[in-house]
Amino acid sequence: MTLAAPAEHRTLSRFWTLDPSVNFLNHGSYGAAPRAVLEAQQRVIEEMEREPVRFMLEKMLPLLDESRAEVASFVGAAPERLAFTPNATVSLASVLATIDFQPGDEVLINDHEYMSLANELRRLEKTRGIKVVVAPVPFPMTGPDEVAEAVLSRATERTKLAVVSHITSPTALILPVERIVRELAARGIETMVDGAHAPGAIPLDIESIGCAYYAGDLHKWGCSPKGAGFLWLREDLADHCEPLALSSRADTLPEHRRRLHHLFDYVGTRDCSAWIVAGEALRHVGSLVEGGWPEIMRRNHELAIKGRNIVCELAGLEPGGPDEMHPAMAAMRLPPATTQPAKGSITGDDLWDRLLARGFQQPIWTHPLNSLRAIRISAHLYNREEQYRMLGEALREEMGR
Ligand SMILES: Cc1ncc(COP(=O)(O)O)c(C=O)c1O
Repeated sequence: MTLAAPAEHRTLSRFWTLDPSVNFLNHGSYGAAPRAVLEAQQRVIEEMEREPVRFMLEKMLPLLDESRAEVASFVGAAPERLAFTPNATVSLASVLATIDFQPGDEVLINDHEYMSLANELRRLEKTRGIKVVVAPVPFPMTGPDEVAEAVLSRATERTKLAVVSHITSPTALILPVERIVRELAARGIETMVDGAHAPGAIPLDIESIGCAYYAGDLHKWGCSPKGAGFLWLREDLADHCEPLALSSRADTLPEHRRRLHHLFDYVGTRDCSAWIVAGEALRHVGSLVEGGWPEIMRRNHELAIKGRNIVCELAGLEPGGPDEMHPAMAAMRLPPATTQPAKGSITGDDLWDRLLARGFQQPIWTHPLNSLRAIRISAHLYNREEQYRMLGEALREEMGR
């Protein structure tokens, strides 16, 4: 299915390499890097391969520092407290591995959290004897206070750490992290914010949130190549956190280099090109629209809400939350699945499979933490209103409504 697209959509979508035969409404899962960013990454890889040793020993660190400065300024963080990691999954696990948990310590999460966090915590339940407390949060949600109160009411004197998404994955909601962090801190509880979806989706000022740790991704809404995550740590914690593996250089800290950067910038042989071009990706995408990133975030949010309204109306669904709680994504609750996916299904959901076969790309998940089934849509510069209308009609037909 090739989509006839109005002029502005064609103008902006031509900056991406996305398959025009797919109605791609899932920027949220893995992002999508524009063509110019992929070309910049290729140039870095070629430079590395011309003289790999000189690149690894001499060129890589200044290039990482340069990009880190741009990324840090974009997310409102001091570069000295920001380390590059492959992704949010690794950032969260790195912090959890460094905390000195004692048996019986509680880690507080909520039932909209991402499963890589929940899985890592299950491991710590087995190996360290921690207890994971999952606060149930309603969906659809009426407002930020509902989630803040649900989380805060589950904190106890045994809570060692709380982890909360800045933007939830299964339900696409911006959570009131500032309030949660502040009220938990008043009770002596540290918070890690899972901000995988936040950079490039909503304005960010990490330093002002007051959390202990912030995990972010640049390959989602920042449009970097895949494998560009970061971890920010409060100043008093920055030199205590270590990557999950220590490299051959770990014990030889050069003068004038922060331990955090020394340990995280080199973790054995790997391709650092995604981090090196992360700053350039932000600059490139910011240059595509007059008004830069503030305008991009505004437009994407506006399109996500329009798209959600269209899908809700056509398929008879309820919005998942107030407009202002959605970033450039929205999710709607679906009834539980009544048909099993075919053997070999790549999605695990029959309805998702059927939409995929019709050329639509958006997730339909049943979240393991609360058994909630929802459909999530995303909106980026390359999307247009008509795509949500087509999805809404296809959904209505496939759901027999
Ligand atoms: C809230 C949240 N946390 C963590 C992740 C994991 O991100 P990554 O795959 O980049 O590690 C995701 C991915 O969608 C997410 O939505």
